[in-house]
Amino acid sequence: MAGNFIVPGKVFHGIGSFSQLSTIQGKKAVIVTGQGSMIRAGYVEKAKIILNKNNIDVTIFDGVEADPSFETVMKGFNFIKNFKPDWIIGLGGCSAIDAAKAMWVFYEYPDTKFEDIIPPFSIKPLRNKARFIAIPSTSGTGTEATCVSVITDREKGTKYPIVSYELCPDIAIVDGELCQTMPSHVTANTGLDALTHALEAYVTPLADAYTDCLAERAVSDIFHALPAAFANGNNLEARQTMHDASCLAGMSFSNALLGIVHSLAHQVGGMFGVPHGRANAILLPNIIRFNAAIVEEKYTKLASLVGESSSEGLAKKIEKLRHAVNVESSFLEYGIKQHIWEEKLHIMAEHAMQDACTACNPRTPTLDDMINILQSCFQGSTLIIK
Ligand code: ATR
Repeated sequence: MAGNFIVPGKVFHGIGSFSQLSTIQGKKAVIVTGQGSMIRAGYVEKAKIILNKNNIDVTIFDGVEADPSFETVMKGFNFIKNFKPDWIIGLGGCSAIDAAKAMWVFYEYPDTKFEDIIPPFSIKPLRNKARFIAIPSTSGTGTEATCVSVITDREKGTKYPIVSYELCPDIAIVDGELCQTMPSHVTANTGLDALTHALEAYVTPLADAYTDCLAERAVSDIFHALPAAFANGNNLEARQTMHDASCLAGMSFSNALLGIVHSLAHQVGGMFGVPHGRANAILLPNIIRFNAAIVEEKYTKLASLVGESSSEGLAKKIEKLRHAVNVESSFLEYGIKQHIWEEKLHIMAEHAMQDACTACNPRTPTLDDMINILQSCFQGSTLIIK
């Protein structure tokens, strides 16, 4: 079967690679960023100085919130369209970069409606007006290397993964120094998100030699580097290893796609505001147990890279890592009230069945399977396959 392998045009990586922004040629750049961390850390100003030296006019759109909404995307689009940039730069956590990607789509095609871009691969060719640079400050989604942008519909309480090869950035700058100020809980959430990407990508029907080697390297590096980055945010070696691993996992899943950990995390995140990586980490071990009947051999291969010998060993090792970085073992422990959970259970399972990620899960779930998985992860019990 012929396969695609789509990655950013250029990836600059390593401590200090931020300065590679000086290689950009153009006239106008808009920097899209979050709610202040990158301004406070001086990176917005640093980017401005570097770009101004190349005679590029720079303007800033800041204030993108966690789990960016469609409203924020439209606000950014209205800002961008008046400035008419030829570069859009997403600088910050995945929220800022994903919002910037979606603003880019509307900037290129102002008549687009949000519903038009929800079906996978429905975005028309971009780059008629601007090209895109992603500079992440969290080590999780790997959005700097992916064809994905996740936008939240707050009214419906659900997250939409917008998927198109067009969304893969032209340039990614993966500099672990930007992550030094990341709080430890964000380090944990995002690091476990990256681990989930590698693990899910490894077992989809689209996984191949290209995506497997990236996922394998990401998994072994994350098990080593995440506890170190969590314990000491100033450990630049651990920060860069996590940043690279997140990008490798991003390239892997952007091509092999994902499975039902993401389908379900999109619902629990959209409904209850559980940070994405945290929701993934609570779901992942039980979904490994669910999928094992189909892909035990592949999980065993991955398990062997981290000193384990079976899918169950791998699931337990993830539970230990999760505990080591202070992430809860259930949604109940996270703080969701049982009666509200039960009210929303069916609708979350139904939406998860329709999520774009469900089609690539190695084992096709039924609605009852989704409910069973959600319930076990609510209670924190080991999944019993019905
Ligand atoms: P994710 O990558 O998981 O989507 P996010 O939603 O973009 O993460 O960011 C989560 C939180 O981490 C936000 O509060 C963000 O702050 P800003 O909105 O002010 O940027 C914060 N954050 C992200 N990267 C950070 C960094 N390197 N240092 C400090 N805070 C950071």
